[in-house]
Amino acid sequence: MAAAGSAVGLGNIWKFPYIAGENGGGAFLIVYLLCVLLFGMPLVMTEFLIGKRSGKSAYGAFQELSGNNRWQWLSWLCMLTSFCIMGFYFVVTGWCFNYLMEAFVHVPSGLNMSDLSSHFAEVSADIPRMITFSLIPIFLTAAVLWFDVNKGIERMSKTLMPLLLVLMVLMAGRVLMLDGSNIGMRFFFQTDFSKITPTVIMEAMGQCFFSLSIGMGALITYGAYMPKGQNVTRTSIEVIVLDTMVALLAGLIIFPAVFAFGMDPAEGPQLVFVVLPAIFEQMSFSWFFSVLFFSLLCIAAITSTISLMEVAVAFVCEASHGKLNRKKSVLIVAALVVVLAVFNVLSITMFNISDEVTACIMMPVGALGMAVFVGWFLPRNGEKGVLDADKGIKRWAQKTYIAALRWLVPAAILLIFLNRLGVFR
Ligand code: TRP
Repeated sequence: MAAAGSAVGLGNIWKFPYIAGENGGGAFLIVYLLCVLLFGMPLVMTEFLIGKRSGKSAYGAFQELSGNNRWQWLSWLCMLTSFCIMGFYFVVTGWCFNYLMEAFVHVPSGLNMSDLSSHFAEVSADIPRMITFSLIPIFLTAAVLWFDVNKGIERMSKTLMPLLLVLMVLMAGRVLMLDGSNIGMRFFFQTDFSKITPTVIMEAMGQCFFSLSIGMGALITYGAYMPKGQNVTRTSIEVIVLDTMVALLAGLIIFPAVFAFGMDPAEGPQLVFVVLPAIFEQMSFSWFFSVLFFSLLCIAAITSTISLMEVAVAFVCEASHGKLNRKKSVLIVAALVVVLAVFNVLSITMFNISDEVTACIMMPVGALGMAVFVGWFLPRNGEKGVLDADKGIKRWAQKTYIAALRWLVPAAILLIFLNRLGVFR
C-alpha cells in the first residue's frame, strides 16, 4: 500500500493528462499501456527484489548484492535523479496547495477558460506566493521523515486512496454528462496509428517510469521493508494496476471536459489546473467536492514526495558512514530541496528541463542499469539469488521475467535512445 502511495501521485493526475494531451491522446495511450507491460512489470519487480534480497536502500543495495564497488554509480544516479525530480515536483505540489486554499475560500472561478488560464498564469508567476506554497509540502515531507511516521502515513493513505478513487469515478460520471464530452472520449480512446512517432514513444516510456516510480531506487527501499513471506509478483501487479487505473480515470475526467469546454488538450503543464476548477463549477456541492478533491490530491502528492525524499535522505545518511544521523540528513536534504524548488519557481526553463530530462533520460538510464545488473550480473537462485527473495513466483514466470530483464528491457530502452539520437530512423 505504501508503494502504491508512492506510485499514485501528481504523475497520474497532473502529468499523465498533459503529456497524453500533447502527444495525440489515443496514440499515446496505447503506447503507454504497452510500456507499462514491457517496462513496468519487470522493473517494479526488479526494484522490489533488489531491496528485499539486500535489505538495503538504493545506497547500499548494489554493493551488498554485487560484493564490489563497480555498481556504485547507480546509487549516485538514483540520488541525483531524486533531487532533480523533487525540484519541480514540489513546485507542482505547491500549485495543488494553492488551489486547495482557493477551493477553501471559494474564489469563484466561473467557466470562462481564458479567465481560468490567466488565473493560473498569474498564480504561477507570483514568485513569493509560489515559494511559500512550495515550502509547505517540503516542510511536511521533511517532518514525516524526521519523526519517522511513515507507518502513520501508510495507514492514512490506505483509507484515503480508495476515497480518491471513488471521488474520481463520481467526477468522471459528471463530466461524461457534459455536451461534447464524446469528442474527448474519442480523442482519448481512438488510436490513430499514424500519430505514433518516436517522440510519442519516448514520452510514453518516460511517463511510465515516472508514474510507477521506477528507475531511481525508490521502490528498492520499500522492498527492503517487505516482510519475508510477501509475494513480490502479486504486490507488483497490484501497484501497477492501481497506478494505471488512476491515470486512466484522470484521462476520463480531463479529456471529455477539455473538449466540452472548448479547450486545447495540448495546453501543457497547466492543463489540469485550468480544467479542474471549471469541472467543479459544474457539479452540485462544488465547494465540498473541490475541497475534498484538492485535499486528496495534496495527500497523494505527499505520499509520493516521501518516497522521493527518502532516497536522498538514506543516501546522505549512509554515504556519510553514520557521521550524519537521520535527522541531520533530513535537514541537509530539505535545505537543498528548498534551494532547488526556488530555482524551479524562478525559471520555467529549469522546470521544463527537469521534468523532461528526469523522465526521458535519467530514469531510463537508471532502469537500464538495474536491468543489466540483475539480468546479467547477479546469480538467479541460491543463497544470493534475487529470485529466491520471492517465494511465490512460478517457474514460467521466473523464466519470462529473466528474459524480459536480459533482452527485452535493455534492447527497448537502447533502441528508443538510439532512435532519438538520430542513429537510425
Ligand atoms: N510516481 C509518483 C507520481 O506519479 C512520483 C514519484 C514518487 C516518483 N516517487 C518517485 C517518481 C520515485 C520517480 C521515482 O506522482
